[in-house]
Amino acid sequence: MDNYNPIDLMFVGMEKLGPGSNAHTLHVLRLLPKQQFHVIVDAGCGAGRQTMVLAKELGTLVHAIDSYEPFLNDLMRRVKEARIGHLVQTHCMDMKDIPGVFQHIDLLWSEGVAYNIGFSNALTTWVPAINPDGFAVVSELSWLREQVPNAVREFFLSGYPDMKSIRQNISIAENAGYRVLTNYTISREAWVEGYYEVLKPRANVLLNHPDSSVRDFAAETIKEIEIFRCSEDSYGYVFYVLQRA
Ligand SMILES: C[S@@+](CC[C@H](N)C(=O)[O-])C[C@H]1O[C@@H](n2cnc3c(N)ncnc32)[C@H](O)[C@@H]1O
Repeated sequence: MDNYNPIDLMFVGMEKLGPGSNAHTLHVLRLLPKQQFHVIVDAGCGAGRQTMVLAKELGTLVHAIDSYEPFLNDLMRRVKEARIGHLVQTHCMDMKDIPGVFQHIDLLWSEGVAYNIGFSNALTTWVPAINPDGFAVVSELSWLREQVPNAVREFFLSGYPDMKSIRQNISIAENAGYRVLTNYTISREAWVEGYYEVLKPRANVLLNHPDSSVRDFAAETIKEIEIFRCSEDSYGYVFYVLQRA
């Protein structure tokens, strides 16, 4: 039977399911004041690009959580190819349920995912699962300055009206029970390389797909990439490096 799932069609085989890069993941990991953790959780791991960076660098088991099983299957194939299958355990579950499954997390990592349940809600939901003085490293789409091109503002007014500035997100994290150690904005290249440069030609092809939900998803993706092109650095993906207070 033909697969008309827009997610499968758009993202099949991709290692990166959002903006980011191994170099950024590694850089932010090394900003933490310690590098040894017992319980590590990667929330919304997708196909596991960052999961593999964490597992290889730390040499410790990483619990990789995602609600979409095909991405987890992709991740397991990759970790086996890289001979690090013993360092990754997948869990097909909703990341809002993390505290019911993990109660003593030393490092909770989450790249490009928290917005799915709301950044503030994600941080509040996860805090009881993190050990006192344990860490959370969470990236979130954030406004980088006040001057925003009109087209960009309009796009996010409907696409992500809850997007906040870095200063606002720092307050949100503090109110949720964390100390904010630092923040770090990823480069423009990390949006394009292996991500938008792959999605754009795929989306152009899918504009002709027989199913309207696939065509709509393709058109939205093209619009998102165009908005990024003319964003004038008004928004970006920001890592918030947090320690449970
Ligand atoms: C934009 S992708 C990012 C994936 C990966 N972190 C990366 O940067 O390549 C978002 C991921 O979050 C997962 N996801 C969305 N909502 C979720 C939820 N409530 N619980 C668990 N995973 C979720 C999706 O299935 C997808 O794999």
